[in-house]
Amino acid sequence: MSTQAVARALSPVPPQEIPKPAITPIPLSSPDVSAQDRELVLNILSGTTLSLGPTLPAFEAAMAEVAGTRFAVAVNSGTSALHLCIKAAGIGEGDEVITTPFSFVASANCALYERAIPRFVDIDIDTYNIDNSQISVSINDRTRAILPVHVFGRPCNMREIGAIARLHNLAVIEDSCEAIGATFEGRKIGSFGDSGCFAFYPNKQITTGEGGAVVTNDENVARLCRSWRNQGRSEGGAWLQHERLGYNYRLSDINCALGLGQLSRLDEILKKRMHVATAYRDALSSVPAVITPRPEPGMSWFVYVVRLQDEFTREQRDQVLASLRNEGIGCNNYFAPIHLQAFYAEKFGYRRGDFPVTEHVADRTIALPFFNNLTTSQIEIVTSALSRAIGNVKTRSAPVFQLNTHRSNA
Ligand SMILES: Cc1ncc(COP(=O)(O)O)c(C=O)c1O
Repeated sequence: MSTQAVARALSPVPPQEIPKPAITPIPLSSPDVSAQDRELVLNILSGTTLSLGPTLPAFEAAMAEVAGTRFAVAVNSGTSALHLCIKAAGIGEGDEVITTPFSFVASANCALYERAIPRFVDIDIDTYNIDNSQISVSINDRTRAILPVHVFGRPCNMREIGAIARLHNLAVIEDSCEAIGATFEGRKIGSFGDSGCFAFYPNKQITTGEGGAVVTNDENVARLCRSWRNQGRSEGGAWLQHERLGYNYRLSDINCALGLGQLSRLDEILKKRMHVATAYRDALSSVPAVITPRPEPGMSWFVYVVRLQDEFTREQRDQVLASLRNEGIGCNNYFAPIHLQAFYAEKFGYRRGDFPVTEHVADRTIALPFFNNLTTSQIEIVTSALSRAIGNVKTRSAPVFQLNTHRSNA
């Protein structure tokens, strides 16, 4: 590539051709990279060890501290972390893993990678987390693990999940990808399970660009994960010696340096996000058509997801999303239920109605712009746009949902 081609790639549209937006867009999320973060990354780039250098164990030590575990193994995504946790639990063909259909698709895909079956359990209408009261009826002799997801950063009740797992001799894999820094009953999320996972995509509370981590108190799990992420090599072994089937799930020192910088500000970041969530709650008290997320001790705010009241339909929610986008406001329908994703529906025969609480919630949720430095005036713009958009959609008169209707995928 010529120098001119590189310059063109870095600035693809000549300034005079950039269309002038009529409005200043407000993104759904925005990473918060400080001058110190940039300096840490540049330091790595000025050196000669861009991967498998000393910044990797330094980042891992910081992550283990955040999760309250003995070990952390950094990998290149939250999905890779989930995959390694499934492997570490010895889960294989035909085994079942209990999880929620109201999550990012990776929470279930990780079981499929090992030819195991995700067995969905519906969610609690208030927390959006797996409904613990429905877990036991979904356990059978193929069940090997429970994989709770701390949805949107809200901690699951890990005391109850731990008790069910102990009773049935199941592994617990915490999908903490959205919940860094969260606590349940004063104990750090990620430290409850046999293993836990974190993710560092740029929409997360802290980012490494791309990245993830497995956390665990089990030395053997940590050792295996280190080997799997690095092509099955053993620690200290020769570069071309592969002890087991491995992957390239490594996280470079460039990413780790950014992660270290971000982690050093974790407390400040979580406080800022809590402040933004509080400001939203105050502003949205003037919009009775939306249910705002309940603040909870120990929560780590990942996204700000409101839900339209029961009388709204999915189509009306989608119209609201379209109106917001039209006004340059980033928003999304977090989450689209996993069981209704085309390949899950096709593979397992799922249909609408299989997980009614998940579907009811998923049909009405709207993730609003949410990031560390979202300003009060941006929150006001979002709130009034949301209020206008809702006013413009027709509300249905009859509620369409009964809370006590639930079915598991037995
Ligand atoms: C709950 C949950 N699990 C897993 C993942 C996967 O993380 P990654 O995108 O880093 O692979 C995400 C990412 O958004 C997530 O939200």
